[in-house]
Parts: sequence; structure tokens; C-alpha cells
Amino acid sequence: MIIDGKKIAEQLRDKIKSDIKKMSDNNKPGLAVILIGEHPASQIYVRNKEKFANEVGINSSVLRFDENISEEDLKNEIKKLNDDPNVHGILVQLPLPKHISQKDIIQSIDPNKDVDGFHPINVGNLSSGNDAMVPCTPLGCYYLIKKVIPNLSGLNAVVIGRSNINGKPMAQLLLRENCTVTIVHSKTKNIEEICKCGDIIIAAVGKAKMVKSDWVKDTAVIIDVGINRIEINGKNKIVGDVDFDNIQDKVKGISPVPGGVGPMTIACLLENTLKAYKKISKRIK
Ligand code: GUN
Repeated sequence: MIIDGKKIAEQLRDKIKSDIKKMSDNNKPGLAVILIGEHPASQIYVRNKEKFANEVGINSSVLRFDENISEEDLKNEIKKLNDDPNVHGILVQLPLPKHISQKDIIQSIDPNKDVDGFHPINVGNLSSGNDAMVPCTPLGCYYLIKKVIPNLSGLNAVVIGRSNINGKPMAQLLLRENCTVTIVHSKTKNIEEICKCGDIIIAAVGKAKMVKSDWVKDTAVIIDVGINRIEINGKNKIVGDVDFDNIQDKVKGISPVPGGVGPMTIACLLENTLKAYKKISKRIK
């Protein structure tokens, strides 16, 4: 079965849209996205985030800054957004230029407005099992898995990749659902053998078609986070980290690239913005 991320994301956006529709026009959720420089993939991601935010009724704005903006000036811009009562979600698109500390910028965002879930307070709350803002990509993967397997308790989950954006928060979400979680990464010696034990496999490494058909069991559910640009017969193509063509008929479920995790990431950003709005509004009342 192919897990249709496009459709599941649309259902989530519809739910968010109908929730926002009930709010008064002068009090809607607001999302501010900061984009620095000309990174080509970031331009596309940010354009999509803005488009879908506006479509569900979130007031979204993109603040564009020159590649040479100083860290201090960027922090001042974030402070203004932290203090702005009409902004409920703040997202600083990564990667940042080399002269700016990613760690310090993330820590300058109000944790209640941190819709990326990257602030250490949110990271800590997620790993402690408290309510937290959860990073959008692993949250989207989690929703896709739950559509196919509603009860994850006791299942073996293999997370390929250990990034702060995907692998680590993904492992926390699965642990919260009583999975037995193994994180494998570039230094792991027997990735293939470990994958063969996986009831659930999440691939987030950035290596085109790395996960092969004989690495996975027939009952596995596979979520592909990879976005790799490769050339096939002189044409540019986007493929995931999983050898989709040779696996799709074998397994219980697999998410395609494109049309799997990508649309879910954006829908979860909108959901996080709505969540931040509700939390902040409740605190003000
Ligand atoms: N760049 C690539 N993925 C992401 C993401 O999830 N959030 C942000 N802020 N930047 C990214």
C-alpha cells in the first residue's frame, strides 16, 4: 500500500482551516517565517509554507534578509517577533549563513512560538514526555505511521539518521508510543541486519535509494524522508532514501517521494502554529 501523504496532509489542513474559520477576523493565528539569503531549496520551501498558511487562514508573512545580516540584527528581528502579539509562530528557515550561530538563533526564539520545535525547552519537554512543540517532519511521519498502524506498542522501529531535525525527535515520538527504537547512522556497522528486524522503518539520511528490497520484511511500514536530486537518462529527478520501485509491492505500507512526508511537514507546521496560538491566547486571557 502506498501511503498518500498528499491526501492525509489535505485532510489535516481542512481540519485546521475549519478551526480557524470559527475565529474572529481580527484575531487569527499569525506565522512569521524568516528567510536569509538565496538558498534555492529554502526559497521553494518558504514559498510553499506561506501559500498553505494563507490557504488555511493563518496570517503569514515572510521576512527576507540579506545573506550578510549580522547575528545581532537577526536576534533583534526575532525579539520584535517574540514581543508581537499578532505573531504566534516563528520559523527561521535553515540552513543559516556560516557567520551566524544556529544554536544561538534557535535559543533566541520564544519557546511558546517555536513552531519548529528546535528550542532546547521543547526538545527537553518532548524527551521528558511533557507537552511540547514537536518538529514538523517527524510529527508528519508519525501521523502517516498511525494511519496504517493505529497501535504501535511493542513494535520494532528503526530510525535511519540521527539529526536534531528528524532522527532524534522521531525516536522520541516512537518511544512515547511504546516502540522499541533503534537509531542507526553513518557509523553503524550492520544497518542492513537491523533494518530486517524493523516493523517500522523511517529513512532520513539523504542517500538516494539506500534502503533496498532485501533489507526490509514484508510486513514493514516504511516512511521515506529523503529528498535527493539525481539524474536519470539525462533528466533531473527527485527520489527518496528508499528504493521505492523495488519495494512498493513487497511491504505493508510505504510513503512515496514526492507526495509522502513533504506535504505532511507543511501541514504539521500549520498545526503547530494553531497550537501555539491556542496556548498563547489562553495565557493572555
Ligand atoms: N530546513 C530544512 N528543513 C527545515 C525545517 O524543518 N525547519 C527549518 N526551520 N528549516 C529547515
